[in-house]
Amino acid sequence: MNKVSFIFLILGFASLVTACRTGINSQPQNTAANNILETRYKMLLDYPVDSMSMPRSMNIKTNEIRKVPSRDWTSGFFAGNLWQLYRLTGDSRYKEQAQKWTPFSKKESVNSNSHDVGFKVFCSFGEALKVENKKEHEAVIIKGAETLCTRFNPKVGSIRSWDFNKEIWDYPVIIDNMMNLELLFEASKISGNPKYRDVAVQHANTTLKNQFRADNSCYHVIDYNPNTGEVRKKTTLQGYNDDSVWARGQAWAVYGFTMSYRYTKDPAYLKQAEGTAQFFMTNKNLPEDGIPYWDFKDPSIPNSPRDVSAAMVMASGLYELYGYTKNKSYRAFADKLIASVQSDKYIINTAIKAPFLLDHSTGNWPKNDEIDEPIIYADYYYLEALLRKK
Ligand code: GLY
Repeated sequence: MNKVSFIFLILGFASLVTACRTGINSQPQNTAANNILETRYKMLLDYPVDSMSMPRSMNIKTNEIRKVPSRDWTSGFFAGNLWQLYRLTGDSRYKEQAQKWTPFSKKESVNSNSHDVGFKVFCSFGEALKVENKKEHEAVIIKGAETLCTRFNPKVGSIRSWDFNKEIWDYPVIIDNMMNLELLFEASKISGNPKYRDVAVQHANTTLKNQFRADNSCYHVIDYNPNTGEVRKKTTLQGYNDDSVWARGQAWAVYGFTMSYRYTKDPAYLKQAEGTAQFFMTNKNLPEDGIPYWDFKDPSIPNSPRDVSAAMVMASGLYELYGYTKNKSYRAFADKLIASVQSDKYIINTAIKAPFLLDHSTGNWPKNDEIDEPIIYADYYYLEALLRKK
């Protein structure tokens, strides 16, 4: 071997070692970005353990972290991020921290105040179960599923999402609710009790029937008459207006119906996931790097905030969708989204000490809440997408 080949061999080996250490080993990526990400990962270990202070988002200008108790819908994501980092890196410190944070979500398995029991319990205990095959994790998941089923109305064929705004809605069901079905499907698998799965299938079928438009985009909120099951209103809370296309809602739909196909093999679910994915991927208002504006119909585009969380939910969903369809365009688009966020533009600068990875998500634009800032669930679905890519 001559001297030049030897140097290339050494450089190649060094990049491989770096890539494996960061857990992002599936492509020759931007090493600088990977190093920054690795520094950011470690900041999750420094965040003080406190059951009332789950990190949710941050104001990047003031460095103020928004901390929430377990009843908040986002409370399970931080433990989930630690479990996922353990699986990506093999570093036991992430597992040790995850073990401390996960129990804080346990009491949410009996909280029937909203449909979010799925997010809270499954993103924490569901991730724990992937690492530790423990009966107590399974018990929390089954309890959570039991609680979620108390919100199911057979006349509507759906789980009720929210209890607020009673003067406006009779029985609101939001597209996000599709994500909670994973808790139900998994609980039936673990327990052998078909009840949870039956509720999940009825919910998915009702959503399929009423939540989508002819172009495969979806409404955010469908309000039902709880006595007759009739649709009262097709509307929004977090979108620009009732007829607009809230970006994260489209991502919840693609992910939710792909996941529901995993458990049922119902081709109608796959068809809907593909239709909404195509709507998203080919939209004329999608920026070049694939990271959507928070709503595809915001009239302020291109001067409108992006939503990285929508992109990361979509990336993770598309990797799974690729697995069932073998349509390479889904994998290529997910790869593009991951490559886009692995850059200075989206990774938070290491000078900012906080337990978050990615900037530029938008939580609730109509309420002017969490606009263009780091939000915990963008990181969760980013890490999940990396694991799926691997
Ligand atoms: N599930 C609430 C949201 O997506 O903002």
